[in-house]
Amino acid sequence: MQSNTNYALFFERYHDFLPTDFVSGLTHKHLEHKTLRVNTSKISPPDLLTLLTQAGFEICPDEQYPALFHVNSHCSNLLAKSWQARAGLFYFQSKASYLPAQILSPLIGETVLDLAAAPGSKTTQLSQLRQEKGLIIANDINPKRRAALAFNLEQQGCANVQISGYDGRQIGNLAAECFDRVLLDAPCSLETYALKKKDFFKYWSLAKVQQMANLQRQLLVSALKACKKGGTIVYSTCTLAPEENEINIKWLLDNYADFLELEPINQTQNQVLSEFQGQRFSKQIQNCYRILPDKSNGYEAFFIAKIRKTKSLPPHNPQQNQSASTKYKHLSKKDQQSLFDQLNIVYQFDLDWQTDFALIGDYTKSWLICKSSSDLEHGQLQIERPALPFGRQTQKGYRLSFPFCLKFGHLAKANYLEIDQKQALDFCQGKNIPAASLAVNPGIQQIIRHQGFALGRAILLNDGTLKNQTPPAFVRQSL
Ligand SMILES: C[S@@+](CC[C@H](N)C(=O)[O-])C[C@H]1O[C@@H](n2cnc3c(N)ncnc32)[C@H](O)[C@@H]1O
Repeated sequence: MQSNTNYALFFERYHDFLPTDFVSGLTHKHLEHKTLRVNTSKISPPDLLTLLTQAGFEICPDEQYPALFHVNSHCSNLLAKSWQARAGLFYFQSKASYLPAQILSPLIGETVLDLAAAPGSKTTQLSQLRQEKGLIIANDINPKRRAALAFNLEQQGCANVQISGYDGRQIGNLAAECFDRVLLDAPCSLETYALKKKDFFKYWSLAKVQQMANLQRQLLVSALKACKKGGTIVYSTCTLAPEENEINIKWLLDNYADFLELEPINQTQNQVLSEFQGQRFSKQIQNCYRILPDKSNGYEAFFIAKIRKTKSLPPHNPQQNQSASTKYKHLSKKDQQSLFDQLNIVYQFDLDWQTDFALIGDYTKSWLICKSSSDLEHGQLQIERPALPFGRQTQKGYRLSFPFCLKFGHLAKANYLEIDQKQALDFCQGKNIPAASLAVNPGIQQIIRHQGFALGRAILLNDGTLKNQTPPAFVRQSL
């Protein structure tokens, strides 16, 4: 059978550097290993630890990274459906996948391009790393995956991210030297899943590895062009193939030596290769970082390179730095103030929104973005989704968006409802709230909270119940 042949070829190819227990790991329990990253824009790691432990979830902090917790596999499904997940208090992310954004470590205010961003594990992490100060353009070619990206940005409450949908190979020419930092978490042959996905070996082939390596080279050049001179690019893959890792970085050094240098990545237990199948790699390549799969990381494989752009590349065409006419506009100051005033009157947020946020769109439908990220022009890039949905005008009045309520609902001092544990679970599953005993203003959206964390919004019906206004995608996650 083809998959048996591939299986044999795979292990023969990597046998020199794969840990011996990787093969026996096929039936190993640690494959179920899960870690979560705390959404530090909503809760501190110690507070989340207390909250989840008191709720009966078995989690323990990672020894190296305070914002990462290991989750007992028995409770990971329940945790994924919990009200704490709905509130966006954490995000499931493996320890290895946590590293590229940490290594990119953008500074507050810097502009970041996440070239292949969906479903957004690292975009949401980058957003939280800088307390949403500084724009992130999250790009991905795949529309379905962009929908998942938008979902995660909304759940995690990232108000400094704009989404675009380009083939990443074009971006370097469309937005040359527009970004201080670029993350290229590249599409790859996904060999980290060799032990996790049952039919992995049916689809794995050397031709696929080579095809991915070629695509990655083009994406690397695009990332290099999009990065400003003096800026930083982090390249990462979750695959073992040296063609997609050390060999690709060697290719980059061979072809673009005048424009970049590799920066050392200071991590312990670096397993970067010094040779593969007789091909020796220079000392520079040792600046990259390779994680081999092992039990303690749930059999994750990752490769990371950190590149500093030292010189500008020659321009691709004379028009490349012209700006595109963006389809989005900022609301006028007057309209913004009017919407923010309405918001403060109804919910008594007592926040000076105009200082920290801007609105994009128009009075009938708008998006909220952090002021420091509100620029809408990036070379010739067209943005598909400009920020976090804010609200829309309807015949029944102004309606706040679900993501807005999730992000800011805890700050409201009026028109919110604190519900109990049972109601919270029901609410997350899309059920209405019986409102008999609740004093609620008819016609005004109520922000729904549990233990002070916002879970969404609801509106009073004629029969006295509060209609749950959670979008179906969020309900599905809790079922
Ligand atoms: C490894 S995944 C990215 C994971 C993401 N960074 C995260 O942390 O959640 C690679 C992504 O590259 C996207 N992709 C594939 N080819 C692309 C291309 N030519 N341009 C832009 N994105 C591409 C895929 O749709 C996929 O979402």
